[in-house]
Amino acid sequence: MVRTMSGIQPTGNLHIGNYLGALVNFVELQQQYESFFCVVDLHALTQRPEAAVLQRAVREVAIGMLASGVDPDKATLFVQSHVPQHSELAWILTCLTPLGDLNRMTQFKDKSAQQPENINAGLFTYPILQTADIALYRAERVPVGEDQDQHLELARETLRRFNFVYGETFPDPQTVRSKAPRVIGLDGQAKMSKSKGNEIGLFETADETMLKLRGAKTDPARLRKSDKGTPEVCNIFSYHGYFTSAEQREEIAAGCRSAQLGCFDCKKMLAANMEAVKGPIRERAAVLRSDPARLDDILAAGADKARAAAEATMQLVRERVGLRRKD
Ligand code: TYM
Repeated sequence: MVRTMSGIQPTGNLHIGNYLGALVNFVELQQQYESFFCVVDLHALTQRPEAAVLQRAVREVAIGMLASGVDPDKATLFVQSHVPQHSELAWILTCLTPLGDLNRMTQFKDKSAQQPENINAGLFTYPILQTADIALYRAERVPVGEDQDQHLELARETLRRFNFVYGETFPDPQTVRSKAPRVIGLDGQAKMSKSKGNEIGLFETADETMLKLRGAKTDPARLRKSDKGTPEVCNIFSYHGYFTSAEQREEIAAGCRSAQLGCFDCKKMLAANMEAVKGPIRERAAVLRSDPARLDDILAAGADKARAAAEATMQLVRERVGLRRKD
């Protein structure tokens, strides 16, 4: 059976970019593929979080995945560090990756600029660990947002190199895109991201979201309600594209162009439509939070399944690269 694999970093709260760009596809793909979804805590260490903060974030991301519809009866949901084979394979792949390939990674440059006081080697080799995540499960489908394109390209090149050097072992992992591969942040400038503070949290209440939307930029040419707007250049209207029916979107666009509908009302409609998606997720998350033992059980069962699959791959890999003892 074809396998799908993806991961999310526990480095802050999930936002609607994570949901629309990745999570909706996790839920979709688990219906037809053997699925492995992972909270990548080893990746998060590149930001040196406090231990207690990391522990909490791991649980919150797992809760977010489940609340969004990842079904532990269909998919294997686990924490990366519970499966030590990730680190083992990452080292083997590190020895196959030219420095030049890593030097090209724009995310390394971005992250280094964000944390100039902590440019550690893990930040640099980060995409190799990501390649190992995918390869361990010999995954052929990887649901991610557009920001992961370069990492996926590197993964394909590295795994092709492994196959060339050691013999055909890994399939080519293909990117699976959602309808929202790049959700823009509330600043209207950059990708929505935990590190930029421009996000709408998946667990936020309707009031919290409305407060953020109130301050969000709209069509810059529309200073007063009486000015006619251009929905196509408005970031808020782009969010309507993800949450609002085609019919209501047409009404909004017409109201904006004719200055019949003000930005505040347009934002209120958006907040209500977002709440229709976020509200049930928030409620399911609250139920999951109230039963920590259940979450422990789900993650323990997931780790068992993931370890078995990972170990099967590693036995083959160790043999191919010459690490297995011949008794
Ligand atoms: P992370 O934790 O930054 O993001 C998790 C997922 O959310 C997507 N995403 C977005 N999609 C659309 N618009 C946005 N504004 C937006 N922001 C985030 C990301 O593309 C991602 O799919 N390196 C990865 C985690 C990872 C991984 C893996 C992914 C580790 N190992 C193996 C796939 C396979 C990351 O930092 O994602």
